[in-house]
Parts: sequence; structure tokens; C-alpha cells
Amino acid sequence: MSVVLEVRDVVAGYSPTLPILNGVSLTVSAGEIVTILGPNGAGKSTLIKAIAGVVKITSGQASLLGENLVGLPTHEMVRTGLAYVPQTENVFAKLSVEENLEIGAFTNRHAYVRQRDHVFGLFADLARLRRLPAGKLSGGQRQMVAVGRALMADPKLLMLDEPSAGLSPKLAEVVFSQLRKICSAGITILIVEQNARAALRISDRGYILAEGQNRLDGDAGSLLDNPKVGELYLGAGSRLNK
Ligand SMILES: Nc1ncnc2c1ncn2[C@@H]1O[C@H](COP(=O)(O)OP(=O)(O)O)[C@@H](O)[C@H]1O
Ligand SMILES: [Mg+2]
Repeated sequence: MSVVLEVRDVVAGYSPTLPILNGVSLTVSAGEIVTILGPNGAGKSTLIKAIAGVVKITSGQASLLGENLVGLPTHEMVRTGLAYVPQTENVFAKLSVEENLEIGAFTNRHAYVRQRDHVFGLFADLARLRRLPAGKLSGGQRQMVAVGRALMADPKLLMLDEPSAGLSPKLAEVVFSQLRKICSAGITILIVEQNARAALRISDRGYILAEGQNRLDGDAGSLLDNPKVGELYLGAGSRLNK
């Protein structure tokens, strides 16, 4: 399978003297959903921000479809095919759903109507709510706007930071099944999640980070079965698949 995202030995952080990531590596191949797991403060959000260029990479490599990402300005990142949905403040609350989607299409204006109709096809609710300000929507609906906006640029890789945060278990399931649908439509996905069990169930593979380093990785099924993973999340003697 062809490699979409390659991250090698990345060191990054919020100040040059205090790295948060101490040499993290991961690979995402075309057509996969890959989940990054790990305890609070492990550096999951920092990793996804470093890939997206929001946090500076001080050493190591990151590339998308063979193109270097390190040091690229945001609009160049979008051109390479990268889309990033932050955990919070990921919609323009005062703008309508449709205006949020328009902003997402800024690199891809000629394809606006086609992309918008594609997003409305994935998220029928958004078509219905298109004239409402995004700030008036429920948490689940706002998350759909954020994902929809990211899809407007027709990305090759969609990265999401805790897409199920703050949602009820039922709504979280809806978001996860929509990610499966997006993946089936040809978009490779990298997710950061706290909700390990639900995320691994829709993923092909997972990486577990701890203290800014790779701890464990493997097929989603083997991580769900692994007692070490169960212990990390649920306590001694537990497994996620039970
Ligand atoms: N904006 C920031 N400035 C300084 N330190 C930060 C910032 N954001 C996160 N950190 C620190 O980086 C470490 C990793 O945080 P984060 O990547 O958010 O972890 P996770 O997403 O795995 O919970 C934590 O020690 C956290 O305190
Ligand atoms: Mg985080």
C-alpha cells in the first residue's frame, strides 16, 4: 500500500528548550484509518499540531505523499492535501453552515458546488441546517460542520483531534461511523482519541504514545485484545474488547 503520511523521529514542543515530543515516528497508508491513543498529556495533540505546522518541528521528518511538510506555511500544507480539524474552536460560530463550508473551499473555489454537494451527501443534516449560524448547532452538528469544512479542500489526509470529545456515546458512534464513510469515499484518516475502544473499532491500526514517545503500535484488533492496552485504559486485568 502507498504511504500517505510518514513521520520520522519528530522532536517538537512549545519552547525550543523543552521538547514535548522526543522522537515520535508513525506511518499512515492510503485508505487507512489510524488512531493515536495515550494518556492525558502524552503529546497526542502536540503530534497532530506538529504535523499540521501549528507547533514547530525542531528535528525529524514529516512528509505527505512524499512532499516535505516541515516548515511549510498553512496554505502550502492544504495544497499538499493535508486537512486538520482541531479539538476546539473548529468552526466560525457567527457564520452560517454554508459560509463555513465556503471558507473551507478557499484553495479549491472552482470545485465549490461539487464539494459542497459531496459534503451534504455525507452529512444530510448540514444541508438542512445550511442557513443557521454554526454557533447555534449542537455539539455533534458543529463537529460535522468542522469535518465538512475540512473536506471542502478535497484533502488526501484528514487529521482530527478528539472528534468525539464532549459528545454522548450515541453521537460519538454517529461521528465514528461517518469517518468510516469518509474513508470509504477515498480519504485517509488520522485520529487522536481518548475514547480508545470506539476509535479502535473503526480503525485499521493504532499507535499509543506515552511521555512524548512511541509506546506500542499494531493492528486495531490486536490492540483491542492486548491486556497492556486494557490496563492502561481500564485498569489491571482488563481488555478493551470485553
Ligand atoms: N500551548 C501549550 N504551551 C505549553 N505547553 C503545552 C501547550 N499545550 C500542551 N502543552 C504541554 O504538552 C504536553 C502534551 O500535551 P498534549 O499534546 O496536549 O497532550 P495530549 O493531547 O496527549 O493530552 C503536556 O505536558 C502539556 O502540558
Ligand atoms: Mg489532546
